[in-house]
Amino acid sequence: MERTLVLIKPDGVRRNLVGEVISRIERRGLDIIAMDLRTLDTETAKTHYEEHAARPFYNSLVEFITGGPLVAMVVEGERAVEAVRALAGATDPVSAAPGTIRGDYALEVQENIVHGSDSTYSAEREIKLFFGDLAV
Ligand code: PPS
Repeated sequence: MERTLVLIKPDGVRRNLVGEVISRIERRGLDIIAMDLRTLDTETAKTHYEEHAARPFYNSLVEFITGGPLVAMVVEGERAVEAVRALAGATDPVSAAPGTIRGDYALEVQENIVHGSDSTYSAEREIKLFFGDLAV
């Protein structure tokens, strides 16, 4: 069993895609073991995306992710990190396969509906950041 952090980003919430994303996660057989709607403060957003701090889009990404409410959740299941990334599709939605969340609902690399941790190491760090003591 593995745990991963999933965010339905502010664009997904704004577009009323929360139910759609949750439904896909549940139908796949993954379990949501923690979830809330929150607006990120800048410090948490910067920490969440700290590995991208040197990239040109960093400030824009932080501004976007703090720009409205998002849904944060911890998802558990067999190879959950990889399973969520497969459900989400490629980071750049134009390259994401139809049938994936991004391939069905997004066109922009920043406003791409969902975030899923990219490794078990990231998952542990991100779950701690968002949900404190809830360990991976
Ligand atoms: S990944 O998923 O970590 O392998 O993808 P990566 O390309 O490293 O992107 C990490 C996050 O940065 C966002 N991103 C961008 N935002 C704005 N402009 C550009 N050009 C851009 N490229 C990547 C992307 O949405 C990823 O966000 P998360 O929340 O991690 O999915």
